[in-house]
Amino acid sequence: MKTFITITAFILVGVLTALFFGFNQTANSIDYDDEQEGISEQVIIRFSHVAAENTPKGLAARYFAESVQMKTNDEVTVEIYSNGEIYQDQNEWEALTSGKVEMIAPATAKLSPLFPDWQVLDLPYAFQTEQAVQEAYEGKIGEELLNDLKRSNAKGLGFWYNGFKQFTNDQHPIIQPVDMDQLHFRTMPGPTIAAQFDAVNASTSELSFNKTYRNLEVDFIDGQENTVSNIYSKKFYKEQSFMTISNHAYLGYAILMNKSFWNKLSKSHQEAIVSSMEETTDWVRRHSIEINDSQIRELKRTSDIQIDVLTNAQRKKWKEAFLPVYIQAEKSISPSLLREVKRIQNHYSSHN
Ligand code: LMR
Repeated sequence: MKTFITITAFILVGVLTALFFGFNQTANSIDYDDEQEGISEQVIIRFSHVAAENTPKGLAARYFAESVQMKTNDEVTVEIYSNGEIYQDQNEWEALTSGKVEMIAPATAKLSPLFPDWQVLDLPYAFQTEQAVQEAYEGKIGEELLNDLKRSNAKGLGFWYNGFKQFTNDQHPIIQPVDMDQLHFRTMPGPTIAAQFDAVNASTSELSFNKTYRNLEVDFIDGQENTVSNIYSKKFYKEQSFMTISNHAYLGYAILMNKSFWNKLSKSHQEAIVSSMEETTDWVRRHSIEINDSQIRELKRTSDIQIDVLTNAQRKKWKEAFLPVYIQAEKSISPSLLREVKRIQNHYSSHN
């Protein structure tokens, strides 16, 4: 009898054990999928850019990082390296495409040596209101330019906003095009930007953003063109006596990810990134205007720089002076893009 009880208990334990493990194994195989695997794998996106933290790009990068982290339940972390701390203008493209970092956000002009069509965004007075810029970035022009990147190892996620460029210099107020005569300016790269200065008899040196302050300090250059937020955050105003609110061209950013990295991301992570990108673009489109406005108020309050605002009649003279830039552009920019610029200009002509 004792033996019978022992054998029955043994069989019962065996059956229960088999049932338990068998059941669990079924449950595991039902739950297991590729997304589950991602849970234990932390994905890191190293995001390098050259601007300061308190700028539209610096703040947008932070907003984007928080949004991605939240939408992926902390599975994806965006590590931000600002101020050109690890890569600068001259090497950030190589760092991105070779996978040393996963994201960069260069000013659109910085892509023009590799992708000449991108110069379209640097044409002087091409887009004269924020709505016109939005129509370019988020419309046909932006789409065509991002498409152009497909022949590289960069995936274009979209565009972020900063603001209109203004001139600064340390010689005299710049009000008329003739005031540019013989001045030497730091510029971002691209024949269109060089042609803009050439048209008003100024000379240029292409210098990286992070070297600009030093070159103003040692008087290698008389001036530079940039958004108020860059002039403010990089303290260019300390080395410059005059600033002209000319709004003569727009400075914004291409948001780029390493394509091989992007292709390896799970679908849900890609969706989270696209959705964070859309939210950040909306955010920076609205806030970039406020940031530049509040920093110009700060400059008026705390610095000695003289600020001159061009009148509509004065701006008209600058537009005329810059007409040769459009003729030169025909040599290197696709006709379809130039036609779209014309269309946008005509559409917003009441603001001209
Ligand atoms: C510049 O080089 O002047 C700008 O592109 C800097 C930036 O990234 O805003």
